[in-house]
Amino acid sequence: MSIAPALPSASEITDLRALARALAVEAGAVVRGGRPDRVEVAATKSTDVDPVTAMDRSVEELLRRRIADRRPDDAILGEEGDDVAGTSGLTWVLDPIDGTVNYLYGVASYAISVAVVAGDPDPAVWTPLAGAVHSVVDGATWTGARGQGAERDGTPVQVRRPDSLATSLVGTGFGYQAAQRAEQARVLTHVLPQVRDIRRLGSAAVDLCLVAEGRLDLYYERGLNPWDMAAGGLIAAEAGAAVSGLHGDPATRRMTAVGTPARQAELVALLEEAGA
Ligand code: IPD
Repeated sequence: MSIAPALPSASEITDLRALARALAVEAGAVVRGGRPDRVEVAATKSTDVDPVTAMDRSVEELLRRRIADRRPDDAILGEEGDDVAGTSGLTWVLDPIDGTVNYLYGVASYAISVAVVAGDPDPAVWTPLAGAVHSVVDGATWTGARGQGAERDGTPVQVRRPDSLATSLVGTGFGYQAAQRAEQARVLTHVLPQVRDIRRLGSAAVDLCLVAEGRLDLYYERGLNPWDMAAGGLIAAEAGAAVSGLHGDPATRRMTAVGTPARQAELVALLEEAGA
């Protein structure tokens, strides 16, 4: 059993948010300035359609160097590198480019996601403290800090509150494994007839921020990695969203369902009925 961590003070959390924002914005400038006309795939990960680019690697290295300088006692969990242990009880959770397939093709939705969590760096038990998502193409930066709200470029954001599931715009995403995609497509046939429409934009981190600012009403996905959801999940929660899994579980790789509480509960019920 993990022991609840002692959380930093509110002013320390404010400072962590500022650092997360600064790191995401600096990394975003590198990605924006360094994108070649044709991006090459450097390697593949879980399957042949799960790409890594040279930029994913170099930006994660930059973020790791900055964190080692500024917060040498903190641990690091990043999408593209080995876990770094720490002694402070805090872990930085990094996605150097969330939406790598969009980056590869030059489709607009891709972002740097930087979060810091307390406790085991596992979405089932962690306590997210602060996070930032920087959208590379349009330069928007969303931030959130535990108990201190969520902002886009310094302006507070709040979730939209649609009257019904039927009028809710729902974002989702698909994993990289064929069998998982077949199952996601099956679940989608239960959801799509019940909602306003579906969006698959390609960056879970951005999608969660779009829920936070009311440009999506709901979001769900099975299979999200900790780095896909750490910052965006906190930002959505701080903007008034419920963030959970199914059957009373926390949001994890098993399922992440996010949105204004009444509609999110209806979506969770629908996903449970669909056997998601
Ligand atoms: C992916 C994106 C995508 C989501 C996938 C993620 P990546 O992250 O967030 O929207 O549907 O599940 O793996 O691979 O671009 O970092």
